[in-house]
Amino acid sequence: MEKQRLDKFISNQLGLARNLAKTQIHRGKVTLDGEIVRDPSKIFDAETGKVTYKGEPVSYRKYLYILMNKPKGCLSATEDKRKETVLDLIPENMKRNGLFPVGRLDKDTTGLLIITDDGDFAHKCISPSKNISKTYIATLDGELKEDMIDVFEKGVTLADGTLCKPAKLTILDKNIAELTIYEGKYHQIKRMFGTLGLGVNELNRKSIGALELPKDLKQGDCTILSEEDLALIYE
Ligand code: URA
Repeated sequence: MEKQRLDKFISNQLGLARNLAKTQIHRGKVTLDGEIVRDPSKIFDAETGKVTYKGEPVSYRKYLYILMNKPKGCLSATEDKRKETVLDLIPENMKRNGLFPVGRLDKDTTGLLIITDDGDFAHKCISPSKNISKTYIATLDGELKEDMIDVFEKGVTLADGTLCKPAKLTILDKNIAELTIYEGKYHQIKRMFGTLGLGVNELNRKSIGALELPKDLKQGDCTILSEEDLALIYE
């Protein structure tokens, strides 16, 4: 049983602004179990109710998966007294209770961040045992050397003695690297390059598994992921 207001359901499932969802319900565009319902505050069971919008069935997704192109300067947290968080950037029509970022990107890191209300999914996505790849583009303050590829491939030992899983380094330019890791330790990429005497000036996450940051998604913008998009994560 998943009790919900009809306007919230329409807004969440179709990505419509809440006010637009209300207006459309008033206009008789929404049916529930075969009857037109004009009351946006109507409470029903979202799991079993048969809803249509403009004659088309609206299927129910229990959880929401949002892909954000995280900009610099905001925190991967659910709330903060002073600083803007990634949740503050979510558009009204995608807002739901219980949303949180899957793993953390540093304040100055940009790129692909998933925000969801599905705890099991988040756990799978960040658990090192699942071996899900995360690929970053790093701009460094010094020159990359071919022999570093081997160092990453063997598994870097961080300054505090922590051993990282093997990672794949591709040198794109003299100070620009693509690095794929299979875990998510605190400040991992900065600490990995740190062991080689390199500082990270810019860091951008471009993919998780085969799910890529869409090229046309501007920093700070969000899009809702489909089941097909999610499946790419495990490829
Ligand atoms: N590694 C880092 O050092 N920072 C991030 O934000 C992500 C990975």
